[in-house]
Amino acid sequence: MKTNISIAIDGPSASGKSTVAKLIASELGFLYVDTGAMYRAFTYACLIKGIDPKDKEKSCDLIGKINIAFNDENKITLDGVDVSKEIRTPEVADNVSYIASYTPVRKDLIRAQREIAKGRNVVMDGRDIGSYVLPDSQVKIYQIADAEERAIRRHKENLEKGLHSTYEEVLENVKKRDYIDSHREFSPLVEAEGSIRIDTTHMTIDEVKNAIINIIKEKGLI
Ligand code: CDP
Repeated sequence: MKTNISIAIDGPSASGKSTVAKLIASELGFLYVDTGAMYRAFTYACLIKGIDPKDKEKSCDLIGKINIAFNDENKITLDGVDVSKEIRTPEVADNVSYIASYTPVRKDLIRAQREIAKGRNVVMDGRDIGSYVLPDSQVKIYQIADAEERAIRRHKENLEKGLHSTYEEVLENVKKRDYIDSHREFSPLVEAEGSIRIDTTHMTIDEVKNAIINIIKEKGLI
């Protein structure tokens, strides 16, 4: 098998990228890299240290003072502690797009993301993977769905995890993050040049996964 293959899956909030990316990575034996988890972990770090994520200066001051990484089980860690559950709360979701709009934070996490991908076969999902983090990715997917459908999916996930939020709150959060993510100055959410757009509004997870696997096959990468 070829090495150094990267599959970039970008798109707006709760469009099902991570579910599909995980399945593809596991089917192909590639490493799955959840870049959103890194921005969420940074946000969680601010919150537990009493820093308001809207305070750019204080938030950026944490760069270099905290360690965000994936452990051997590919779980996101903050200073060595698995925080994979803590980063999924509505409070983190409400604040993460502020943190992700700070250029110094992005530069720091993007450097780490490129380091992880170096010399490996990866499926990386996020907002700016095909456009900025790994612009040489052999396959770039832009995965979208209607905001209402995305809110239904995320609300269902939250309920399954025992997290309290209403459908209306989730819809508002999804729309707010889409706006902030696509309007920030540095590496915003954009449809990368050369990417293939998949509208998943009326597709099952399996259909999306198979569509992407077929694209990878057609390119002769597997
Ligand atoms: O899974 P969901 O769509 O809710 O979001 P996520 O992938 O966990 O990302 C959380 C947030 O991190 C996004 O709303 C963005 O603000 C930010 N993010 C980003 O700016 N760039 C990335 N490559 C990944 C996430």
